[in-house]
Amino acid sequence: MHNDILRVLYTEEQLKTRVKEMAEQIRHDLKGQVILTVGVLRGAVMFYADLVRELDMPVHMNFMSVSSYGSSSVSSGAVRIQYDLEEDISGKNVLIIEDIVDSGLTLKYLTSTLKSRNPAMLKTCCLFDKPERRTVDFTPDYVGFEVPDVFIVGYGLDYAEKYRNLKYIGELKPDVYKSQ
Ligand code: XMP
Ligand code: MG
Repeated sequence: MHNDILRVLYTEEQLKTRVKEMAEQIRHDLKGQVILTVGVLRGAVMFYADLVRELDMPVHMNFMSVSSYGSSSVSSGAVRIQYDLEEDISGKNVLIIEDIVDSGLTLKYLTSTLKSRNPAMLKTCCLFDKPERRTVDFTPDYVGFEVPDVFIVGYGLDYAEKYRNLKYIGELKPDVYKSQ
């Protein structure tokens, strides 16, 4: 697994520090409200689990699953809900927790879908942002790190379902995804 990594972008320690800072910011902004955190499966699982524990405020936890990528590293452009919320979110304070914004298609689709269900609040929190890759107009409310246009894996992020359990964020060697 580690042999496929070109370089480490963020260590376990750096991720932990940044997640803590993000949690403090969110807690400050949303103080006194009960938040429904919606994690986007599966890439956001590690970030989600660490962030909600750092939030230290009442949260309800739920998940959705959307697909925009197959096993390839290039977006197909199509977004589809694979697993939807089974609860009514009208009047609730919703915080979407996602791993990475790339073209912006996934979160643009997800936020417009959830907005139509009339939540009291809808905010988005992403650990990584690749602003250079944006093809649609979308700005997350909270961003952990802006990353360059390279394929990153680890801490929940995969390539072809591999590398999700790396403790750090690494840049994948281009020959790993170009050879497939
Ligand atoms: P869009 O283009 O809809 O994409 O903003 C968001 C989704 O694309 C995946 N993605 C990545 N996954 N390393 C990954 O493991 C990356 O560098 C990367 N860039 C985009 C990811 O699933 C995200 O939810
Ligand atoms: Mg994702």
